[in-house]
Amino acid sequence: MTTYAVTGASGSFGRHAVASLIESGVAPSDIVALVRTPSKVADLAEQGVQVRTADYSAPDTLPEALAGVDALLLVSGSEVGQRVAQHSNVIDAAKAAGVSRIVYTSVLRADTSELILAAEHKATEEALRASGVAFTILRNGWYIENYLGQVEQSKAMGEIVGASGDGRISAATRADFAAAAAAALVQPGHENAVYELGGAPTFTMTEFAAALSAATGATIVYRDVTPEEHTAILESVGLDAGTAGFVTALEVGTKRGDLFTDSDDLQRLLGRESTPLAEALASAVK
Ligand SMILES: NC(=O)c1ccc[n+]([C@@H]2O[C@H](COP(=O)([O-])OP(=O)(O)OC[C@H]3O[C@@H](n4cnc5c(N)ncnc54)[C@H](OP(=O)(O)O)[C@@H]3O)[C@@H](O)[C@H]2O)c1
Repeated sequence: MTTYAVTGASGSFGRHAVASLIESGVAPSDIVALVRTPSKVADLAEQGVQVRTADYSAPDTLPEALAGVDALLLVSGSEVGQRVAQHSNVIDAAKAAGVSRIVYTSVLRADTSELILAAEHKATEEALRASGVAFTILRNGWYIENYLGQVEQSKAMGEIVGASGDGRISAATRADFAAAAAAALVQPGHENAVYELGGAPTFTMTEFAAALSAATGATIVYRDVTPEEHTAILESVGLDAGTAGFVTALEVGTKRGDLFTDSDDLQRLLGRESTPLAEALASAVK
């Protein structure tokens, strides 16, 4: 009997990962959901999943949380700027607890990417390698869901404004990335592997706007602007300079190809095609 633990189990990705583990036949009692606030996952406890408290920033919570765990899915944290220390706490505690493998959710080409967010993932990957614990690194592309927050606004405006040009995006649904993570956790043969995970077919934001038009019945076009114009537009609608600069940097990174991969690692881990954009949009906007 193998015990699997999932961090961030109260978050969207962690929830999908736990659901995928159960779907793949793992008994709920062999799954440990690691959370800061157990009441958030009362539904998982009701299904028989073990729920334990674990705060990446509170190392004293981690030994008990990881006791008896064989394979750990470390879902990267959401507190940008604190994540290297937090992830290192989890890696150290997992090593001390005798966890045999850690599966980590990173970002595409974390070791070479110029994406602002990549630095913390690169440092975490280095900590994992240095730990001596077997690892599987899942370098996830962008979630399709990242593009769904402004559907109503896009419909109302008839346009999506960006600075990503013709940059291709290998986004996939969060559920697909989580299903791949569950597969990598359960299956043998992924020791010390690094995977670049991206959805297919890829799309540009022009193609995204066309797909959104088809899904909603509205006419929505993509309008490309310069990075400077993009930052100014964001500031004009109330974003502070730091946030506007961050969002624009993501657009520039997208144009550079930071969100693109031609790897089929996601599809191979899933054992099927990833969910196409049109299908993801159809279920999201219905
Ligand atoms: N590839 C992409 O497009 C993309 C987009 C967004 C995020 N991400 C990354 O993927 C991760 C998972 O995404 P998501 O959509 O599931 O994010 P999410 O819904 O915000 O979930 C984040 C999870 O991390 C937990 N967490 C945060 N800080 C923690 C701490 N100090 N100790 C223990 N748990 C902590 C949260 O717990 P609480 O419920 O207690 O807050 C939550 O369960 C994110 O954290 C981020 O690193 C990737």
